[in-house]
Amino acid sequence: MDQTLRCRCKIWLVLCVFFICWYFMIHNAKWYNLSSPATTFHHHTTPIRITDSTVKTSENENTNHDSITGEIDWLHDADQMRALEHDLEPVLKKIKPKPEKKTKRINETDHVKKMKPKRHAKRDKISVIKKTRPEPKPCSGRYIYIHDLPTRFNDDVLDDCRSFSKWQNMCPYIGNNGFGPNLGNPQRVFSRTGWYATDQFMLEVIFHNRMKRYECVTNDSSIASAIYVPYYAGLDVWRYLFDHNISSRDALSVDLAEWLREQPEWKTYAGKNHFLVAGRITWEFRREVDEDDAWGNKLMVLPEFKNMTVLTIEKSPWHGNDFAIPYPTYFHPRTDNDIIDWQGKMRRHRRRALFSFAGAPRPDMEDSIRDEVIDQCVTSTQCRIIQCSHENQKCYKPVDVMRLFQSSVFCLQPPGDSYTRRSTFDSILAGCIPVFFTPGSAYVQYMWHLPKQFDKYSVLINEEDVRRKKVSIERVLARIPARKVAAMRNEVIGLIPRVVYADPKAKLERFKDAFDVSIKGVVDRIENVTKNYTSSFDFDERFSWKYFLFGSVEKHDWDHYFRDSMNHKVKPADAEANESR
Ligand SMILES: *[C@@H]1O[C@H](CO)[C@@H](O)[C@H](O)[C@H]1NC(C)=O
Ligand SMILES: *[C@@H]1O[C@H](CO)[C@@H](O)[C@H](O)[C@H]1NC(C)=O
Ligand SMILES: *[C@@H]1O[C@H](CO)[C@@H](O)[C@H](O)[C@H]1NC(C)=O
Ligand SMILES: *[C@@H]1O[C@H](CO)[C@@H](O)[C@H](O)[C@H]1NC(C)=O
Ligand SMILES: *[C@@H]1O[C@H](CO)[C@@H](O)[C@H](O)[C@H]1NC(C)=O
Ligand SMILES: *[C@@H]1O[C@H](CO)[C@@H](O)[C@H](O)[C@H]1NC(C)=O
Repeated sequence: MDQTLRCRCKIWLVLCVFFICWYFMIHNAKWYNLSSPATTFHHHTTPIRITDSTVKTSENENTNHDSITGEIDWLHDADQMRALEHDLEPVLKKIKPKPEKKTKRINETDHVKKMKPKRHAKRDKISVIKKTRPEPKPCSGRYIYIHDLPTRFNDDVLDDCRSFSKWQNMCPYIGNNGFGPNLGNPQRVFSRTGWYATDQFMLEVIFHNRMKRYECVTNDSSIASAIYVPYYAGLDVWRYLFDHNISSRDALSVDLAEWLREQPEWKTYAGKNHFLVAGRITWEFRREVDEDDAWGNKLMVLPEFKNMTVLTIEKSPWHGNDFAIPYPTYFHPRTDNDIIDWQGKMRRHRRRALFSFAGAPRPDMEDSIRDEVIDQCVTSTQCRIIQCSHENQKCYKPVDVMRLFQSSVFCLQPPGDSYTRRSTFDSILAGCIPVFFTPGSAYVQYMWHLPKQFDKYSVLINEEDVRRKKVSIERVLARIPARKVAAMRNEVIGLIPRVVYADPKAKLERFKDAFDVSIKGVVDRIENVTKNYTSSFDFDERFSWKYFLFGSVEKHDWDHYFRDSMNHKVKPADAEANESR
């Protein structure tokens, strides 16, 4: 009796060891294959973290494969090591019921190193793997006071969610802190947790919920660096956008302006230390004339809001007090590891299409380049497309869009009704290099979140050249050397944490998310304007885009992009003035 039991135990043990060996072999084999072409970066002196080169661009196909037999240096890539470590974790956990976490990790990496020859020892960055203790962060200089607004400015607006859209019930999308319904992980397109069917206009709710849990909230406005006004401006105006009655569109904004002016907090800086998040494009808030036919409300034209800083998903290049922050995406991570895992997945992903596009034509806008872009995509064998139309709602399905972008090297982002697109952030999230057709789509917009050196993470193709059919998008993209493409993708994947809004319950230690970056931007900006609050701009506000981007208003190559007002639904008055010149 005893003996059979022992015997069975032994068999189990042998099986278990067998399984572990098998697991290692399978996984190493996979890694080996996937990363081989990346080894063409041997001669680089700077550590470029490139891994996914399974991309089939014309250059890439010629890559000689002798690197497979040569030494492998992929292990020197800290991120890959982390991803591998993560892969092995469950197995290792089963083997040895645990010593200290930290020692385990270091030992694991030692183990991994022994399995593969090493090259540039200096590049090994074990330090990034070690968990550093978060130091208590002092709040001085970043305290924020949250105005306790009457509920008519926020909660009551949410209660009215039925009237946001005439075509769709938006109420489910305000749930989960503004993230919307949980997506799960269908077809394994996403990752295990943190994915929601987030609507692009829910930023106000998302931001407010993050703000409530911000570590440096104070109830003492006198020590606050900034004062947050949690008014759901975009959701408010959404209800009335298509109503032919400007008074209902303006009512709550005018009401709030009055309310704010009465508060003791207003007086210190005449509102210059106040900020607001408006989760729609700036053009919905910049109606300059009181005519029912004109678009949007006049929130940002009111003197009170001109003194405040307004964060929107698209700013006006010709105004100085609105700042663009990323559209919400579908991913809302809770931990550093959620982000690291996703980045790893996007690095390894096979990208079979050179470029892709998801969107609809703009038949009513004669200036739109959408038709030409779609035409070029459809006729290219290297382009994939999801065409939206009234009948086909496919491009609103997160799974389809994310899968398309994950399998593409470049993602086309031509302007639509306005300069910017949520799609830009979906593509960054998918590790797909965005291709812009005007600097207005990102470079003059997300200055706090995206690198100033735009060619490191994106491609700019002149809109005018596309319109006049002077350029083949495919040829431009195919001509970019594989090495440059890999470096750009690496940069894009590195941007992921900065463009996602983490879960309010998140504990990110290593990463700053889009919210953190926005808060820093707001606090810096408000420090500037309050230090000097009596002065107005020391530059012509119409050149804000240039001033913020380059620090000067000198003549610039990009002037022509901003001379003609763009074809958004409303044209700001001063842009029209420009146009007539
Ligand atoms: C690895 O683990 C062993 C025993 O668990 C320990 O003695 C050794 O110091 C560890 N190695 C490192 C590099 O921490
Ligand atoms: C802030 O809150 C603390 C504790 O809740 C309270 O003691 C203090 O008086 C409050 N300060 C102000 C300015 O309201
Ligand atoms: C516009 O709306 C306001 C308030 O909702 C109402 O009093 C007014 O009569 C409306 N005007 C028109 C022209 O419908
Ligand atoms: C806006 O700020 C200026 C000072 O720059 C001030 O003179 C003006 O009164 C402020 N507007 C309001 C509505 O408080
Ligand atoms: C604040 O002012 C400094 C100095 O003029 C400038 O370099 C910086 O970009 C400004 N920051 C913001 C957020 O406006
Ligand atoms: C305030 O603004 C004026 C002109 O706009 C500038 O000359 C001055 O240096 C500024 N002062 C501070 C403290 O930034």
